[in-house]
Amino acid sequence: MKMPERIRLANLPTKIEKLERLSQELGKNIWIKRDDQTGMEVSGNKVRKLEFAAKEALDRGCNHLITCGGIQSNHARATAAVAAKLGMGCTLVLRGEDKEDREGNLFLETLMGAQVVFVTPEEFENSLDEIMEGLKAQIDLDGKKGYILPIGASNGIGSFGYLNAYNEIAAQEKELGFKFDAIVATVGSGGTFAGLYAGNRMDGGMRDVLGINISSTAEYFRERVVELLKEMKGYMEIPFEIEKEDINIIDGYPGLGYALSRDEELQFIKWLARLEGLVLDPVYTGKAMYGLVQEIKAGNLDKYGNILFIHTGGIFGWTREVRGRI
Ligand SMILES: Cc1ncc(COP(=O)(O)O)c(C=O)c1O
Repeated sequence: MKMPERIRLANLPTKIEKLERLSQELGKNIWIKRDDQTGMEVSGNKVRKLEFAAKEALDRGCNHLITCGGIQSNHARATAAVAAKLGMGCTLVLRGEDKEDREGNLFLETLMGAQVVFVTPEEFENSLDEIMEGLKAQIDLDGKKGYILPIGASNGIGSFGYLNAYNEIAAQEKELGFKFDAIVATVGSGGTFAGLYAGNRMDGGMRDVLGINISSTAEYFRERVVELLKEMKGYMEIPFEIEKEDINIIDGYPGLGYALSRDEELQFIKWLARLEGLVLDPVYTGKAMYGLVQEIKAGNLDKYGNILFIHTGGIFGWTREVRGRI
């Protein structure tokens, strides 16, 4: 069983550390894997996926990456950085309106030379594939060769980034001398969860992989993860049957919806920042960690002694607007 090849872009392995003070508060061992430190421009979970997706693009002779996301998409910024690093062009389709004073991820994408196309939420919802295909057709006509990455680089090839991360965790557990009972990840487009889930199953299902969705519903993501796992099977023999019912995604924490923060989430992030010197992001990891702590407090995760939370990054998502509410 051989994984597809990757190019090396991320600072790996990322460290695993115990959140001592949070563990004391909760009476349970909480550990964190610092995937927010995979890099700076290419930080967070996206770069792990891009290591595989960009390799596929290069192998296919492509020299221009096209992808999409929300106006402050971490994935779009990481793709812009990878494209620049590899000498490729980059076009980003973003949901929302341009701002005179671009900030956060949008600023960085501009700085790194990506071309940004703004679309309305309706266009993004209803005709994203056509828009990206249209841009690719134009790019190809211009004599370049485009490669389309889906939202969050969550497709079969991208998900291998987190199968790889699972193997990294398993190696780190050997050094630590114990196994985590549960690995918890934020679910935004599903690829991170799919890769971790595949890794765990191929390792004999040693523990539970739990996802916490920060948008949409757990039911939607259970189906999405099954699709992603099937796509992964197209690249590598993955010797297990996939049942939607085995996919453990905890619903209840999208709050007001994608990229919209409730005061209690922001206050939680501030509390944790002061408790642990650890900064989560408001869109993804802040909501998911908030959910994890609520679940622990409610006694729903009593069977797990050691829980590993993946910090998937997102620091540039602290836009002026959210900062102003803290
Ligand atoms: C910082 C951060 N964490 C978590 C996620 C969710 O990961 P995935 O899209 O693989 O579900 C994303 C992107 O969606 C992200 O940018």
